[in-house]
Amino acid sequence: MTSQPNAQIPEGCAFVIFGVTGDLAHRLVIPALYNLAEANLLPEKFCVVGITRKEMSSEDLRASLMHGLRKFATRPVNEDVADKLLYCVTSVSADPSDPSSFDRLRERLEKLEANRNTGGNRLFYLATPPDAFAPISTELGRAGLLKEEDGAWRRLVVEKPFGTDLASAKALNEHLLGIVSEHSLYRIDHYLGKETVQNILVLRFSNGMFEPIWNREHIDHVQITVDEKLGVAHRGSFYDKTGALRDMVPNHLFQLLSLVAMEPPSHFNAHSVRSAKAEVLAAIQQQTEEEALRNSVRGQYTAGKVGDTEIGDYRAVQDVDPGSSTETYVALKLTIDNWRWAGVPFYLRTGKALGTKRTEVAIKFKQAPFAMFRCTPVEELSQNYLIIGIEPVEGIALQFNTKIPGPTIAIDGVEMTFRYKDYFKVAPSNGYETLLHDCMIGDNILFQRADGVEAGWQAVQPFLDAWEKAGAEGLESYPAGSEGPEEAEALLERDGRNWREPG
Ligand code: BG6
Repeated sequence: MTSQPNAQIPEGCAFVIFGVTGDLAHRLVIPALYNLAEANLLPEKFCVVGITRKEMSSEDLRASLMHGLRKFATRPVNEDVADKLLYCVTSVSADPSDPSSFDRLRERLEKLEANRNTGGNRLFYLATPPDAFAPISTELGRAGLLKEEDGAWRRLVVEKPFGTDLASAKALNEHLLGIVSEHSLYRIDHYLGKETVQNILVLRFSNGMFEPIWNREHIDHVQITVDEKLGVAHRGSFYDKTGALRDMVPNHLFQLLSLVAMEPPSHFNAHSVRSAKAEVLAAIQQQTEEEALRNSVRGQYTAGKVGDTEIGDYRAVQDVDPGSSTETYVALKLTIDNWRWAGVPFYLRTGKALGTKRTEVAIKFKQAPFAMFRCTPVEELSQNYLIIGIEPVEGIALQFNTKIPGPTIAIDGVEMTFRYKDYFKVAPSNGYETLLHDCMIGDNILFQRADGVEAGWQAVQPFLDAWEKAGAEGLESYPAGSEGPEEAEALLERDGRNWREPG
C-alpha cells in the first residue's frame, strides 16, 4: 500500500464564493473546504467571502453553512476544524445589476485581505446558475477585482454548463477570455475530480504494457456508460431545456473519452495534457445530420419502478412541458478520425431513471482470430474487456478466457479485478477537494480549456441540430427502472456487437 506524498499547501488567499446561499456551495464547496482544512491543506492566511444578493449577516451565513456541512460532510465533523473554517467566513452583498455594489465589494475585500494578510491573492468561485457568469464576471472585471497586480494572483472558477451549444460556448469563452486569461480561468467538470477518472491517465501512461495494444490493431471498440437511477426530480425547469445529451455528453462523457483516446502527452503539465485532450475531441468525425440520426438513439422515461422506488412519467415532472420531446436517455456511435482510432467505434450512452447506477469505460479487445479449441468456437469465447469502473465499483477489471479444470479442454470467461478500496484507505471525499486545491495552487491540468470545450460542442452539434428538426419523431420511450430504450441495443447489434452486461 502506498500513500500520497506531501501535498502542497496553497499560498494565502481570499476564497470568494458567489451563490454562497445555494445548493452547490452548501453541498459540495464548503464540505470540500472542510476536508481540505482537516487535511491541513488550507493556507493559514485565508478567508472565505460569501457573496449574497441581499444583505445577510456573517453570523447567519456561518450558521447556514454549518448546517449544510453537518448534512453533507463526507466524514465526521471535528468541531474545532469546522469552527476555525467558519470563523474565516464573512458575508458581503453584491449584485451585478448594481455596479456600485462591486466597488463596495472591492473595498470590503481589501480590508479583509489586509486583516487576514492574504497577500491579495483572490479566487472567485461562481457557484451560480450559468446565466450569471457573464454579468458577474463583467462587474468583477470592471471593478478591477480580477486584475493581477503587485505579484498577487486572481482566478475565476466556473462550473459546467459552458454554453448550451457550439455558438453559445464560443460566445461565453470569448466573453470570459476578454476579462481573464486562459491560465486564470478554471472551468470545473466535476468528473475530473474523481480519483478513478484521473487514474485513467496513470493506467495508460505509467504502465508500459497498455500503450502497444491501445489502438485499432487490437481494440475492437470502446463503450462509455453513465447510467443513473435517479430521475429528474426537482430539476425539471433546467433539465427540460437541457436534456441528456447537453447535460452529460460534451462534458462528462467526453472527459472520459478524451482520457481514454488522447495521444500520450509529452509532459505532465496543463498545456500538454489539455492540448492532447482537445486534439482528440477535435478529431471526432463530424457527422451529417442524416448520419447523426442513424448513429443516435434518444429516449424519454415513462413511469416505472427503480428498485422499490416508484418514478413517475418524465412529462409529469414539475416544470416539464407535458408535451416535451426532451431526451432523458441518449446513446451515440462516434468515430475518431486519426491514425490510432480509425475504424474503432466509440459507443456512448447515458440516461436517467435506469435500473442500475453504473459509470464505466469498457474497452473491448479483438477476438482471438481462429478456432484452435475446436470444442469452443471463437464466437462462444468470453469477450476480452478491460473495464475501468468509476461507479459504483471503483477499480479496474480484465476479462479473459481460462480452462475449466478437468480432463477435457473446456473454456470459460473469468475476471481479474482490482478494487481501490482493497488497496487504499482514504478518507471519503466529494471529489471537489482536489479541484479546489488545484485552483488554489494554480494547477490547471484538471480543468477544461476553451478549445476542448468547443471541440466537444462541435462533435455533438449535428445531433442537436438533427433532433431539433425531428422534434418528437424518433424519440423512443422506456419505462423507469429498465435498461433504456430497446433501440439502443439495436445501435450495436447492427454492427454485430452488444453492450456489456453489468458484471
Ligand atoms: C451533473 C448533471 O453534471 O452530473 C446531473 O447535471 C448528473 O444531471 C450528474 O446527475 C452526474 O454526476 P455523478 O458524479 O453522479 O455521475
